[in-house]
Amino acid sequence: MTGSMVLRTRGLTRQYGRDSGLVRAVDEIDLDVPAGQALAIMGPSGCGKSTLLHLLGGLQRPTDGQVWLADHRIDTMSERALARLRRDSVGFVFQSFHLMDELTAVENVELAALLAGQSPRRARKRAMYLLDRVGLADRARHLPAELSGGQRQRVAIARALSNDPLVVLADEPTGNLDSAATVEVLRLFDEIRAAGQTLVVVTHDARIAAVADRMISMRDGAFADDSPLAGAGMAGTGSGRGSGTAAGAAAGTVYGGRR
Ligand SMILES: Nc1ncnc2c1ncn2[C@@H]1O[C@H](COP(=O)(O)OP(=O)(O)OP(=O)(O)O)[C@@H](O)[C@H]1O
Ligand SMILES: [Mg+2]
Repeated sequence: MTGSMVLRTRGLTRQYGRDSGLVRAVDEIDLDVPAGQALAIMGPSGCGKSTLLHLLGGLQRPTDGQVWLADHRIDTMSERALARLRRDSVGFVFQSFHLMDELTAVENVELAALLAGQSPRRARKRAMYLLDRVGLADRARHLPAELSGGQRQRVAIARALSNDPLVVLADEPTGNLDSAATVEVLRLFDEIRAAGQTLVVVTHDARIAAVADRMISMRDGAFADDSPLAGAGMAGTGSGRGSGTAAGAAAGTVYGGRR
């Protein structure tokens, strides 16, 4: 791996439009994310957070600069190879969940594993395990429309973990959630962090800092600030749920059912 960096960029740039309409959404960013880091990215609307996340996960191509995901240079990778790498190594979580409406919770979670060629029996077993870990075993056969927003996002997180990805990329994962559901999602991220999984979360919610060990502030496509945090997990945030100790005890359980 590139110096044990899970993600690495050099001069990463993405522009939209041209001439007077030119927007440099991401402007020559150099970033190194070591394995196991939980990184929060904040900044005002339009500063380029989503664009950066999409570039990191290979959902979008840069107009200039380089991106490595683990050992792989992804900005020049073929579409086919990139799709395979995304499937095997990246778990995405979006603000609007992006679940398949016509599939049940368990079918949504197992889909990626099935596409990756896992046997239906193993995929189902792992999906049920993950749904149990996010507290939704009893909702496995519900359609997304039959779930609350917080429950849908927990299904999406279980789905993001289904192929045991190197890195979880989350774009405003609590943006559509009320505060109780937000705490639930934060608890899951705390477990991911404590289990040593690499996590990059774009957010407007300062509480995410509680589960991050590094915070980057963006302005106009560039980094305005990049600071280490205590990385104490949710201990002491006074959330009243998932205390640091409980989250610590649960650490790793999400991954207990590895392939
Ligand atoms: N497809 C596109 N075409 C043209 N401009 C775009 C496109 N996508 C994004 N932009 C512009 O790029 C800039 C960065 O957008 P981006 O979505 O990355 O911001 P963001 O930080 O995620 O904002 P928010 O917090 O509102 O989600 C914005 O000025 C936006 O208008
Ligand atoms: Mg955005």
